[in-house]
Amino acid sequence: MFLKFILVVLLFDTACNAIHPLIQPVALTEEDIQNIPMKAAGMVCEDVLFLACQNQFNQYLNISANTDWHNTTYMIEQLDQFYKQDLNSGLFVLCQARSRFERCLGGQYAACLNRLNFVRHNIANSEAYRFVAIFKMLEFECNGGNIQATKNWPCMYSIYASPTYQKAANDCMASYYSATQNQPDRICAAGQTLCKCLELQFTIGCARGILDMRWFECERIRTSFEIDGFCPNISCSTMVFGSAGFVIDPEMVEAHNRIKWDFYDSFANTNRRAKRQVNME
Ligand SMILES: *[C@@H]1O[C@H](CO)[C@@H](O)[C@H](O)[C@H]1NC(C)=O
Ligand SMILES: *[C@@H]1O[C@H](CO)[C@@H](O)[C@H](O)[C@H]1NC(C)=O
Ligand SMILES: *[C@@H]1O[C@H](CO)[C@@H](O)[C@H](O)[C@H]1NC(C)=O
Repeated sequence: MFLKFILVVLLFDTACNAIHPLIQPVALTEEDIQNIPMKAAGMVCEDVLFLACQNQFNQYLNISANTDWHNTTYMIEQLDQFYKQDLNSGLFVLCQARSRFERCLGGQYAACLNRLNFVRHNIANSEAYRFVAIFKMLEFECNGGNIQATKNWPCMYSIYASPTYQKAANDCMASYYSATQNQPDRICAAGQTLCKCLELQFTIGCARGILDMRWFECERIRTSFEIDGFCPNISCSTMVFGSAGFVIDPEMVEAHNRIKWDFYDSFANTNRRAKRQVNME
């Protein structure tokens, strides 16, 4: 009985000391960010449209209107609230906001999510990089990784929220930093090692034997390194093909698609209105 009480207190304590931020892009050093060359996007990003879409994103999530590229630390804090145990009030909401954002920018999405777009407005390269990395990570979590995230979320969430993962993340990052210090040509190789290092957290406990969770973590980390096509060599695929753990639940796909299409249907109208408002300004 007493032991049970202690266990409950311990679990409660762990939940209250939840790690913040829970999920974020890889914290590359300023030096590494400077070493990732920028590439121009073919199109122009119209400032008025971009501002309107960022406002819409913030409003949809009910987060502060100050959430944007000026302070990506703040932005990560704001988005962190949506990494919850409950998908419906958490990741799904975040993903819907993301889809709206992409739809809102339409053909300018790639040009707006390009570091040069910010740098031309005198935003620091590091903030520009992090802003782009946040959206690239969300893009993966919500599209490429969504089936995995949805199906295995209770387990994945418990791993991300565990002190063990936090410790591993600190250790893996420390190795990454020491491998790349003054050695920019090592960024991609060290990035691959970082993927492998963090992925290991998804081979134990509830994730044991479910290889797609491991893949999810690797791909999520990879998004931070592939900005502007920088590390095309980082690979996460080898563990997936032929993996017994990679199962797509047809019911889940169908349910997910239904949510997506319902959302797009209702969004089409809102987006047309938003575009008209932008054009009037
Ligand atoms: C935002 O606030 C509105 C109005 O209070 C509410 O209906 C909506 O569910 C909230 N959305 C989120 C994501 O919290
Ligand atoms: C950015 O946001 C963080 C976290 O909220 C805050 O601590 C910091 O002071 C902000 N930086 C600036 C320059 O406003
Ligand atoms: C990428 O892989 C190719 C072929 O294996 C290799 O020649 C090249 O050096 C690698 N590049 C990096 C940046 O690791």
